[in-house]
Amino acid sequence: MEIAEGIRSRSSVRGFKSTPVPQALVRQLLELARCSPSYANTQPWEVSVVSGTMRDQLGKALYDLAAAGVPISSDLSMPTHWPLANERRASEHNARRFRVLEIERDDSAARNGLRLMNYKFFDAPCVLFLWLDRSLSEWSTFDLGLFSQTLALAAHDLGLGTCLQASLTYYPQAVRELLGVAQDKRLMLGISLGYPDPAAKLNSYRSSRADVDEFVSWHS
Ligand SMILES: Cc1cc2nc3c(=O)[nH]c(=O)nc-3n(C[C@H](O)[C@H](O)[C@H](O)COP(=O)(O)O)c2cc1C
Repeated sequence: MEIAEGIRSRSSVRGFKSTPVPQALVRQLLELARCSPSYANTQPWEVSVVSGTMRDQLGKALYDLAAAGVPISSDLSMPTHWPLANERRASEHNARRFRVLEIERDDSAARNGLRLMNYKFFDAPCVLFLWLDRSLSEWSTFDLGLFSQTLALAAHDLGLGTCLQASLTYYPQAVRELLGVAQDKRLMLGISLGYPDPAAKLNSYRSSRADVDEFVSWHS
């Protein structure tokens, strides 16, 4: 796939087939993602690839915590408020997803159901957890962001879908314990990975983008 076409046609996948992703394909994906740039070529990313019974166990643990309303205890600080323009885009994003699923504004049970789908990995058979060593600076978050985007585009090129998920980092202690990850690693992101299910309603949703002139000023 041509790069520009891949960038334009990628979108978050929120409904996957149960078909397992062969480990060799995940490796191929990671071999592409590791080509990402990073600060002083430090390549700070660390990745846990989770599938099979561990995926089920971990999904259940996270789902149970989220469904029980256990307060979030992310390794990252949570946003408390957004600048107005960002807030507006987030609201539109939520409203449009609810519309695709025909969820009414005041149907809090259905809204909660959508939130909880995150913890079922949208049925993806494979999940990646991305870690950074606690001693790293804020700059390394850029590196992990670039890594994630390269991975998402490479997956798209290989016929796979991804959903980058902050929500999978909300209970890091449970993930650390089940995967045997040391306390000195911060859980930065979860990525559901699998073959997109074309029948999943949410996969028909496409997010919008602001026009270039909304965020650029030109100087000469
Ligand atoms: C850091 C980050 C965290 C995200 N967390 C979630 C999440 O928890 N759940 C979810 O469904 N999507 C999540 N997304 C996906 C965004 O909602 C999505 O990228 C955005 O709406 C643009 O849509 P697109 O990816 O389809 O282009 C996240 C994306 C990023 C970059």
